[in-house]
Amino acid sequence: MLKAIMKGSLLLISSVIIITDAVNGCHPKCLCHQFSKTVDCRNRGLTEVPTHLPVGTQILLLSNNRIQKISQHAFTDASALKILDLSNNSISGLLPGTFKELQNLQILNLTKNFIGYVDNRTFSFLPRLKELDLSSNNILSLPGTLGNNTGHITLLSLKHNKLQKIDKLLLESLPNLKVVLFKGNIWQCNCQVFGLKLWLESFLYRGGISDGVICSSPENRKGKDLLKIPYELYGICSSTASQVHQANFHHYSEHRGSMKHAHSSEHGGDGSRSHCEPKPKPRPVSLRHALATVIITGVICGIVCLMMLAAAVYGCAYAAMTAKYHRENSSSGKEKGNQSGERTI
Ligand SMILES: *[C@@H]1O[C@H](CO)[C@@H](O)[C@H](O)[C@H]1NC(C)=O
Ligand SMILES: *[C@@H]1O[C@H](CO)[C@@H](O)[C@H](O)[C@H]1NC(C)=O
Ligand SMILES: *[C@@H]1O[C@H](CO)[C@@H](O)[C@H](O)[C@H]1NC(C)=O
Ligand SMILES: *[C@@H]1O[C@H](CO)[C@@H](O)[C@H](O)[C@H]1NC(C)=O
Repeated sequence: MLKAIMKGSLLLISSVIIITDAVNGCHPKCLCHQFSKTVDCRNRGLTEVPTHLPVGTQILLLSNNRIQKISQHAFTDASALKILDLSNNSISGLLPGTFKELQNLQILNLTKNFIGYVDNRTFSFLPRLKELDLSSNNILSLPGTLGNNTGHITLLSLKHNKLQKIDKLLLESLPNLKVVLFKGNIWQCNCQVFGLKLWLESFLYRGGISDGVICSSPENRKGKDLLKIPYELYGICSSTASQVHQANFHHYSEHRGSMKHAHSSEHGGDGSRSHCEPKPKPRPVSLRHALATVIITGVICGIVCLMMLAAAVYGCAYAAMTAKYHRENSSSGKEKGNQSGERTI
């Protein structure tokens, strides 16, 4: 009797749970924690984003699944979402409008996927985004900006992708960036990377945190830290006069790879050329430059001093000689006078 009642109530409770789940839309493979507004669907072999989420869900954990594509409407009723973890899935591309409903999203984790291309609209609809993890994907290049709503981004991870370069404009469009991670890419350290170097120096100077840029090519810079390659070696790209190029060619013959690139980009579109030209932006004060200035000033001062000394010596010598000449002249004049006097006498 008691057992039957217990069974009955258990059935009742479980059916109530199922009904509330259905009403709230918890996917059968997920765990929905109402209190923390979290939906946990990790490690469930899911191939798509669960369509219905309990109203007001703030955290959606979808890591370690096999999601390949995200439908344009996957997040239509997820506007309260603050954290979206899609790490370790099989996503190869993102439609530009995928995240457009996520007005409150703060953390978007897309690490360990197969994303190869990022559209400039994909993250454009996320006005509160703070952390964007795009590490361990196949990203070959990034757009010139991540959109016009990226002012709150404080962390950007691009580690372990296939990036050769990054547009300085993209980084400059993230004014609140505090942490940026670059390691594990195939950075090409020719003149194209000059803008990144300038930006990174200024970013670190302002207290930003970065794991640095390690060059992959050209061969002679492989494994080198971008920040430790002196500015002078990028001079080739800045000069547009081909005569200067030829004059420099000999001097920089060991950097032939980048020279070729500089040449080809020079004959290419205007855009690539201006891209390559280091603009006279305010740089953080560099010790090397200060030193160079001191040395040049010293040399010029030395030359001036030497010239003044020479002038002084010359002046003295001249004065002495004229004095001597005058003395001799006057004495010879006297002698002459004497002689003539003798003669007249
Ligand atoms: C990634 O997800 C798969 C399941 O899809 C899992 O077997 C694997 O352990 C996960 N990798 C990591 C690093 O968590
Ligand atoms: C993204 O998820 C991975 C684990 O899958 C974690 O190591 C990493 O810290 C997360 N990134 C962010 C920005 O939270
Ligand atoms: C996105 O990129 C395209 C070219 O690829 C450009 O025409 C467009 O202006 C860009 N949009 C934004 C918002 O940057
Ligand atoms: C970005 O700016 C363009 C025009 O500057 C505007 O049409 C577009 O709606 C903006 N996008 C967002 C997501 O605000």
